[in-house]
Amino acid sequence: MAKKTIADVDVSGKAVLMRCDFNVPLDDGLQITDDRRITEALPSIKSALDRGGRVILMSHLGRPEGKDPADDAKYSLKPVAERLHALLGCPVHFASDTVGDDAKAKSAALKNGEVLLLENVRFNKGEKKGDADYAAVLAAMGDIYCNDAFGTCHRTEGSMVAVPNAMVGKPKVCGFLVEKEIQFLSEAIAEPKRPFVAIVGGKKVSDKINVIQNLLNICDKVLIGGAMAYTFSLAQGGAIGKSFVEVDKVDLAKSLIASGGDKLLLPADSHCGDDFKGSCNKQVVEAGQIPDGWEGFDIGPETIKKYADVIKSAKTVVWNGPMGVFEMPPFDAGTRAVAEAIVASDSTSIIGGGDSAAAIQQFGLADKVTHVSTGGGASLEMLEGKKFAAVELLDNK
Ligand code: 3PG
Repeated sequence: MAKKTIADVDVSGKAVLMRCDFNVPLDDGLQITDDRRITEALPSIKSALDRGGRVILMSHLGRPEGKDPADDAKYSLKPVAERLHALLGCPVHFASDTVGDDAKAKSAALKNGEVLLLENVRFNKGEKKGDADYAAVLAAMGDIYCNDAFGTCHRTEGSMVAVPNAMVGKPKVCGFLVEKEIQFLSEAIAEPKRPFVAIVGGKKVSDKINVIQNLLNICDKVLIGGAMAYTFSLAQGGAIGKSFVEVDKVDLAKSLIASGGDKLLLPADSHCGDDFKGSCNKQVVEAGQIPDGWEGFDIGPETIKKYADVIKSAKTVVWNGPMGVFEMPPFDAGTRAVAEAIVASDSTSIIGGGDSAAAIQQFGLADKVTHVSTGGGASLEMLEGKKFAAVELLDNK
């Protein structure tokens, strides 16, 4: 059932307590290296500010597991507050704690049209388990709860579940980012235009078993790439040299091959190297023919052609996981070719978060696809068909 969004509530003169996913990458100098998760949250924040509300933002950054903020600056959300100020141009206050005196004083003093970002929720032991006392302090700060933290929607931590549950009688809505992600990763897939093609790559079959199983039920074709293809190859009795493999998942790969039938496409060839370096010796071999001492780093040219043909005729494409070591040319070729085929297709194209999002950005093609998810684990779990408690509890339209 569709959830109410921030646009459905009167925010004038109200404090909107908004959970975002500002878990952004920082370099050694604590500079933000990719602010997409911040820019994607701006429409919801602006919607509340422009209509006379004030916004109290909560987020995690990394996994500090209840440490004191003074222990480790790399988990502090201070750089995010600075970036928000630069992007919004309105006052963005920063509280040095989440449920302490600073947060309480600054949330009480916040004026309409202003933003307050609380320090990393995971600095508090109460966040992980969703302690009632901890949740009650946060719940009291807001008149309205808004979840715009798509990347964290698969978590059941305090700020995602206990806090909204403690806001009894107050509106609980999703932000525009969560609305958009659900629209593409769940609704568009539930009633896809066909042919519906999924491309699943990455290192481990074990990370993607449930996704592959769910996609085999709903797609017309599922194309496999990345190192996980070598576990499938071993399951077919192929030689894989020193390629990465999950020996304990070979039986699982066999059952996926059996249940997938001709829906499941495996690589026909492999681009191999003799060392994990772009400058190593290289050769292209047929799938299942990788010599001893060699390792598969990418799909080969025949697979690229076969996969590109399937992708180009698709009307819906979902992509999760690279085809090879896309960070290390020339082994980026397979992943790049898949990205280019998606762009060339006349399809609704949905790119899962994590590595495939990083790859499509690296190739400069992110703005040529329909949707690039901001969620890694969350987009994977949504593609598995899972429901999220943090979303289910929000008010229905
Ligand atoms: C992510 O980056 O996938 C989300 O921010 C969730 O982070 P977590 O895996 O530490 O909960």
